[in-house]
Amino acid sequence: MTESQAALPGEGLKPEKMPGHWVLAQMGKRVLRPGGIELTWQMLDALAIGNDDHVVEFAPGLGATAQRTLQRAPASYTAVERDERAAEYVRKFLTHSSQQVVHGHAEETGLPTGSATVVYGEAMLSMQPAQAKARIFGEAFRLLKPNGRYAIHELCLTPDDLDESTKDEIHRALSDAIHAGVRPLTSQQWRSELEAAGFTVTAEAHAPMHLLEPRRLVQDEGLGGALRFFWNVARNKESRKRILAMRSVFRKYGRHLAAIMLVAHKTAGADE
Ligand SMILES: C[S@@+](CC[C@H](N)C(=O)[O-])C[C@H]1O[C@@H](n2cnc3c(N)ncnc32)[C@H](O)[C@@H]1O
Repeated sequence: MTESQAALPGEGLKPEKMPGHWVLAQMGKRVLRPGGIELTWQMLDALAIGNDDHVVEFAPGLGATAQRTLQRAPASYTAVERDERAAEYVRKFLTHSSQQVVHGHAEETGLPTGSATVVYGEAMLSMQPAQAKARIFGEAFRLLKPNGRYAIHELCLTPDDLDESTKDEIHRALSDAIHAGVRPLTSQQWRSELEAAGFTVTAEAHAPMHLLEPRRLVQDEGLGGALRFFWNVARNKESRKRILAMRSVFRKYGRHLAAIMLVAHKTAGADE
């Protein structure tokens, strides 16, 4: 099946009802995380995935990172994706029986305890309520062997001491624009949530939240992909409305929004 034949998530829904990331996907965007592909490369470099690694990816979306991880030929690769069409879409990148995409939830994957050496997920925690975030951290911890690495790439609020009313205002504005509850944390909060789940944070990097800025679009999608995206958006009034509304919220709160990448380790003996 070629990419153009694969059904995309959100298909059949009206653009005005679709979660923002699937509106972008329908218009041809494949990189759906806030720090773009560059922060992803930094995450993968810090994870240093090798042939011995058993990798679990939470929420691969359209598989932009999955493809790069698979190039590193880990011993096994399992993705857990809650959208069935996205899961099917990522399956087309698999080339070996040690690779699978499970249609399920990162909170409760059903995968064996201590079966992974690396777990990562991008742009999937910010959209979860606090309890679900904690359950996903707990599941990553359960899946990892001692000394295993866990990485996240998410939206973050800045500065660390941002007042609660501005946080609430941003939460409401993002959720209205994206049509999904979006509750990003500050860097300090992301770190302490990971520590509360038993992890030790070992690397941190940031990038501006430029998901819908032209320069980042070209960086993430390549010139051809970005031009295709602009062309699709120009021809599709309802999607354009949604995308401009998202971009205007990202710009309005640009001073308080960023992308964060954190790598954490499960210390040996931490779950004993
Ligand atoms: C914004 S997209 C990000 C996709 C991809 N990680 C990327 O960065 O391009 C969010 C993805 O998270 C998936 N997702 C959200 N909550 C999930 C959960 N609890 N378990 C598994 N997948 C989830 C969605 O289906 C979607 O594919």
